[in-house]
Amino acid sequence: MATALEYASARQAQQWDQLQEFLRIPSVSTLPAHKPDVERAAEWVRSHLAEAGMEHAVVIPTGGHPLVYADWLHVAGAPTILCYGHYDVQPAEPLEEWQSPPFMPVLRDGNIYARGAADDKGQLYAQMQAAEAFLRGEGRLPVNLRFLIEGEEEVGGEGIEAYVRRNAAALGCDAVLITDTTQFAAGLPTLNTGLRGMVYAEVRLRGAEADLHSGLYGGVAPNPLEALARIICGLKDASGKILIPGFYDALRPPSAAEAADWARLPFDAERYRSEEVRAAALSGELEYTPLERVWARPTLEVHGIAGGFTAAGAKTVIPARAAAKISMRLAPAQAPAAMAAAFERRVRELTPAGFTLEVEILHTAEPVLVESENRYLRAAAHALEQTYGRPPVLVRSGGSIPIAALFAQTLGAPVVLMGFATPDCGAHGPNEKLPLANLQQAVATVIRFFAAAAQSA
Ligand code: BES
Ligand code: MN
Ligand code: MN
Repeated sequence: MATALEYASARQAQQWDQLQEFLRIPSVSTLPAHKPDVERAAEWVRSHLAEAGMEHAVVIPTGGHPLVYADWLHVAGAPTILCYGHYDVQPAEPLEEWQSPPFMPVLRDGNIYARGAADDKGQLYAQMQAAEAFLRGEGRLPVNLRFLIEGEEEVGGEGIEAYVRRNAAALGCDAVLITDTTQFAAGLPTLNTGLRGMVYAEVRLRGAEADLHSGLYGGVAPNPLEALARIICGLKDASGKILIPGFYDALRPPSAAEAADWARLPFDAERYRSEEVRAAALSGELEYTPLERVWARPTLEVHGIAGGFTAAGAKTVIPARAAAKISMRLAPAQAPAAMAAAFERRVRELTPAGFTLEVEILHTAEPVLVESENRYLRAAAHALEQTYGRPPVLVRSGGSIPIAALFAQTLGAPVVLMGFATPDCGAHGPNEKLPLANLQQAVATVIRFFAAAAQSA
């Protein structure tokens, strides 16, 4: 392992050049115009895995964006680790809020700024570099490795789900390593024990056949924007309670011990409000702490409302159509299919007469709860302690990784969620960044994780 660590630290300049090349590909999975870029990013990952010394590196087509697979399986008797990450990114808009263009990576104050620097290209690249450090530095890995990398994580991960279900037998592994989460505080080694799931829906309402003059028909014509507002208010109340029958039935709260652990984390709610959320007040279920609300309570959020007249000036119209994008974050053990059905029933019940309603579920993800004790988590904790000089904190996150739960279910392998991005990394927002130091710590920690996983029998 010493040689692999030396190899990685001697190659920092090349790593930075390579990562820049990766970050320059605008692989925005949700925008059809970027499909060729998404495919270029897949090919970039494939060719760099091959160059790293991984074998059988292939781009695998799916119904959506391609997967990338590679393996190296030459240590009989050693465990097999499946490395997961995603090469797709979120849209970079609004562009005017970026200090430097999102797809022209720059190094400023020791940080790499670019869309995808933290989520997830930088963190995925760290795993690729760790494999390369062993294969090129030492000529061999201490464990067997598979890489399975997707390009649809940010849009629900349907392709990888179908692939994993169909090829579970061929993906045999003992643990799954996911580097796509954040540290609890900058520089604090962190292992993640849970993620929220999600149901993402679009609700569409039609009133009259066409837009109408609001003077001639106001008072008689159904207004879909008004109906949508009533529906939304009927889904969640002002104290953050979700008003969908049965919504909380399956919810499994954290154990008293876990909640007590969270209460001991270095967390200052007032600072969190003013520096991280940067709002005048926090909202939601005030009877729970902010960490409990984000990590262990479900929520329902409205992402966008479309309809009617929104240009400058005034127009007196009753719109014929309105739509809203609404998601629910699910907490253990809420089942996405059941929650989606309950959501649709509630929206139907709240829709007044005179409207045509369509509810489309765009994508779903299962919540994740990591088993609390196994040799791979111990190996990860050991690796993090070697890098940072202190044992990791155990936290959950409110974010979602659609494939994570399915890995555990279909491959029967524990998931290790190691995150190296900082809480202020700006994932999905403008000026996304990853400190270069965190990239190097990530590479070193993954190297140590591979070595520790081989030993911890
Ligand atoms: N990497 C994030 C999820 C994440 C971030 C988990 C930080 C834990 C800590 C991932 O890329 C992401 O953004 N997921 C989406 C999934 C959705 C589109 C299905 C999310 O959470 O909104
Ligand atoms: Mn991610
Ligand atoms: Mn993301």
